Amino acid sequence: MGTSLHIEAAAPDDYEWCARVMASTEPWITLCRYLEECRAALVRPGTELFVARTEDLPVGFILLASYGLAGSPYIASIAVAGDARGQGVGSRLLRFAEEHFAGRGHIFLCVSSFNQGAQQLYRRHGYEFVGELHDYVVPGHSELILHKSLP
Ligand SMILES: CC(C)(COP(=O)(O)OP(=O)(O)OC[C@H]1O[C@@H](n2cnc3c(N)ncnc32)[C@H](O)[C@@H]1OP(=O)(O)O)[C@@H](O)C(=O)NCCC(=O)NCCS
Repeated sequence: MGTSLHIEAAAPDDYEWCARVMASTEPWITLCRYLEECRAALVRPGTELFVARTEDLPVGFILLASYGLAGSPYIASIAVAGDARGQGVGSRLLRFAEEHFAGRGHIFLCVSSFNQGAQQLYRRHGYEFVGELHDYVVPGHSELILHKSLP
């Protein structure tokens, strides 16, 4: 999924696609984030939504909050459509966020304690565990706060 992929600010029609991807997959299923909550999350004040496309079809998205955590950039959500996973789209979206916030010094994200696949991806990209919010979204599961220094 290398050269044909491009990432751009979401168009109005993209929001519903992104909300449906979120609501239909883990971790949001376990976190009880249903379609209405996902729609609301994507238009939260202070966030910007970007969509990855191949041949004009959306394959993934990333939701960025420029001052989202302790005044630093925060990746609020990232997801790739089920049939497009494992082909580098998530990695491209992460690199896009890091380039978007180049010069800001820090970037943060949260990942659910049960989301081992995403944790592995973030570790591979240099994100480090800095804290844990116990029972934060739903009882019995933590949100792990990860940090990466940005050049
Ligand atoms: C996590 C996610 C965005 C990664 O996107 P992706 O395009 O599959 O990522 P890449 O192809 O660049 O890298 C694949 C890595 O993602 C991880 N991964 C997580 N879930 C995966 C899945 N269902 N299929 C393939 N890889 C997955 C793997 O650990 C893999 O790492 P590896 O290459 O070291 O084995 C995507 O799998 C996804 O949308 N998952 C569901 C939503 C989610 O968990 N979002 C993160 C919330 S914090």
